[in-house]
Amino acid sequence: MPWRDRLIVALDVDTADAALAMVDRLGGDISTYKVGFELFVSAGPDIVRRIHERGKRVFLDLKYHDIPNTVAKAAVAATRLGVFLFNVHASGGLDMMQRTVSAVNEISAKEGLDRPKIIAVTMLTSITSEVLKNELAISHPVRTQVRTLASLAQRAGLDGVVASPQEISMIKEQCGRQFLVVTPGIRPSWTPPDDQRRTATPREAIHDGADYIVMGRAILTADDPARAIELISLEMLSA
Ligand code: C5P
Repeated sequence: MPWRDRLIVALDVDTADAALAMVDRLGGDISTYKVGFELFVSAGPDIVRRIHERGKRVFLDLKYHDIPNTVAKAAVAATRLGVFLFNVHASGGLDMMQRTVSAVNEISAKEGLDRPKIIAVTMLTSITSEVLKNELAISHPVRTQVRTLASLAQRAGLDGVVASPQEISMIKEQCGRQFLVVTPGIRPSWTPPDDQRRTATPREAIHDGADYIVMGRAILTADDPARAIELISLEMLSA
């Protein structure tokens, strides 16, 4: 896969105009954009269509977590919207994930749609082992929980997981190389970590086996985003 298809830019802005201006500014260098809660709730599903009209793919990052029937129906809506990738919370359980995969497979076949890839969030990176123990009454460390939920997602037939840079190798070892790992929390060597706690450089993430890396601020707030992408691509290539 060429490097440009492995770099996903997070459109963490609150208007369609700002998002589309960034897509137009980055032009041919980027093929895939992440649309998350802020942009989706502000601009609606039309923003996804408008990104598609520009020939780009969309990762719909809405982290579905609800009863199986509700998630399966929302997954059908994402499939009809034509997104390339979307996610659910693995902690929604096996039945929720299995019914999502079945609903997506069925509607794709029936309506001749491209089947989106479906990935799971295991543990949010903001959850620490202390939060697990003291607030959620789960005594395993975060890594054990991540491994358990990644295996559950694989058993349900999902295509992969979202994971922090520190978890990439563990998940690839546990679930095999074909199981996709999408990794945020990436900082090129020249930028600050912002609020991300455990970061890695693009080179480290690709070296550890990430299939896709998600980057927002390091590109969105750069004085020259095109130059930032060029430098990031060199870091990715060096892996
Ligand atoms: O600006 P930055 O590169 O930190 O943006 C990372 C993007 O990835 C944000 O959209 C953030 O919501 C998302 N993300 C994350 N950590 C996760 C899951 C998603 O940073 N565990």
